[in-house]
Amino acid sequence: MDRVKTGIAGLDGLIEGGFPQGRSILVSGACGTGKTIFCMQYIYNGAKDYSEPGVYVTLDERPDLIREDVLRFGWDLKKLEEQNMVHIVDGSIAKLGMPSEEEFSLPVTGFDVDKLLLEVMRVIKRIGARRIVIDSIPALGFNFDNENEIRKAILKLSYMLMRSGVTSLLTSEVQEGTSKFGKYGVEEYVVDGVIVLHYMGVGTQSNRTLHIRKMRVTKHSEDLHPLAITSKGIKVSKIEEEYKEA
Ligand SMILES: Nc1ncnc2c1ncn2[C@@H]1O[C@H](COP(=O)(O)OP(=O)(O)OP(=O)(O)O)[C@@H](O)[C@H]1O
Ligand SMILES: [Mg+2]
Repeated sequence: MDRVKTGIAGLDGLIEGGFPQGRSILVSGACGTGKTIFCMQYIYNGAKDYSEPGVYVTLDERPDLIREDVLRFGWDLKKLEEQNMVHIVDGSIAKLGMPSEEEFSLPVTGFDVDKLLLEVMRVIKRIGARRIVIDSIPALGFNFDNENEIRKAILKLSYMLMRSGVTSLLTSEVQEGTSKFGKYGVEEYVVDGVIVLHYMGVGTQSNRTLHIRKMRVTKHSEDLHPLAITSKGIKVSKIEEEYKEA
């Protein structure tokens, strides 16, 4: 099994060297747990450190705000976009029926998973992408009235991503403290891995952790790992290291 370096400091060593190549991983967590930063770090470092072109499909946040936000970590997306190493596909406002000013965006009329896939496949081909992020799955279900339709769309998406050969990350919002990993009850089963990000308050302290809940074909860590958002992005550590520092 070939491995794809995650670009997340401290994570590769917990999953036998990286994500299983060509598979899809769900990044699940409550709001503000760092899902978007995690996924952008995968794309940014993938392009910069490993020369693997990546596509970021944003269905929640506007691309210009993402670009601005991640400059805080020293990630200059514009530069990589100019080099055709990263493309951002904007679906953030198309789903509301409004046109985007982005170079790559989803059509405003009849936002659906087929149109999304068409655009995604086109952009993957254009830059020879090896990595892709869909942020987020619940936003994909925005225009569906019926949960069965959403489930079908998720199945189709995961099938097409698998066929395309890229290694993909999908994000899902779940409430802290629930035993669910996806919103629609299918996400965690159609993917090959599930990474859960937690942000919990204990007494007057709050702490962030990462848990590898599932990673097919991988002997992975089963611990809860401390996670920090530093000036260079997300860093995952082992609990022993945390004690050593303290
Ligand atoms: N420069 C920074 N330094 C430290 N922490 C930061 C920094 N920037 C953002 N954060 C933390 O990360 C959180 C946002 O992370 P992110 O947008 O990745 O979360 P998310 O899980 O995608 O949230 P949502 O569900 O709202 O999309 C902020 O709420 C804040 O706690
Ligand atoms: Mg987000």
